[in-house]
Amino acid sequence: MKLSFLLFSSVALFFSVAQASKFWDDFYVNFGHWNVNYPGRDLGSIVQLHLDDTSGSGFRSIFPYLYGQFSMRVKLAGGNSAGTVTSFYVRDPYILQTNVFLEGDGYREQGIYLWFDPTADYHDYGILWNHELILFTVDSRVIRVFHNSKDLGLPYFEYQPMYIYSSIWNGEEWATCGGTVKPDWTQQPFVASYTNFNVSNACSVQSISGHDAMNSCYEKLHQSSYGRAPNLALSQKQIDDLRWIRHNYLIYDYCKETVNEKIEGVKSEFQLASECLRNWP
Ligand SMILES: *[C@@H]1O[C@H](CO)[C@@H](O)[C@H](O)[C@H]1NC(C)=O
Repeated sequence: MKLSFLLFSSVALFFSVAQASKFWDDFYVNFGHWNVNYPGRDLGSIVQLHLDDTSGSGFRSIFPYLYGQFSMRVKLAGGNSAGTVTSFYVRDPYILQTNVFLEGDGYREQGIYLWFDPTADYHDYGILWNHELILFTVDSRVIRVFHNSKDLGLPYFEYQPMYIYSSIWNGEEWATCGGTVKPDWTQQPFVASYTNFNVSNACSVQSISGHDAMNSCYEKLHQSSYGRAPNLALSQKQIDDLRWIRHNYLIYDYCKETVNEKIEGVKSEFQLASECLRNWP
């Protein structure tokens, strides 16, 4: 099972789940290390992933986590990547996609426009994960919730430690209808900068045998702020955030499509996914 956060234009930036600690404390570069820079004097506080026509690059958390709150600040500085994509994307060149993969089933995609230019400055992208829900946040606004729906027969993220991955890669095939739009490589490299890697309020599973470490994460869950009220249900502010997103920024949604079909009285072959009603207030 996997959670993903994805920002893309013609170039896709993959941001799966993520104290101003140093990058190296909790992460390592897992591909394209020649395309990774550590700018600034405070080495390790900022990491830049580059994508050029030879390779992308990415990093991963050293340990997997079992519940917690994760965030990092990200700024895209993609040269003129928007100039290479369709008019649809040029108008609003960046789409933030989130997905929840349950047992290999990855059709739970939602895509939104952002209410700011993600290349102009750093913004905070975060995930809160406990036994009741998973919140995706951007600058502390909830943009998506996924409630535990085991009562509806869905699997939930509970026995599975998960790694945090981030990468920048050439998403032309995936992001632009089978590669109809190419990145403008004269603008390369495309760069994504990351800072404020914050996993301080999360539980990492560090032992090889795993079992004791997992048990201690379950214990920690109920003692930690991320595993207790008010983080077990949406606040009124978070409900308002989600309505605001749905009303103004939602581009596509596996839930909404089917809802619309129902409204129009069209009998769809597939049912509205059972968890949708509880995940959109
Ligand atoms: C890290 O995130 C936690 C919440 O998960 C927050 O309370 C804390 O202030 C953050 N630390 C920094 C240095 O931003």
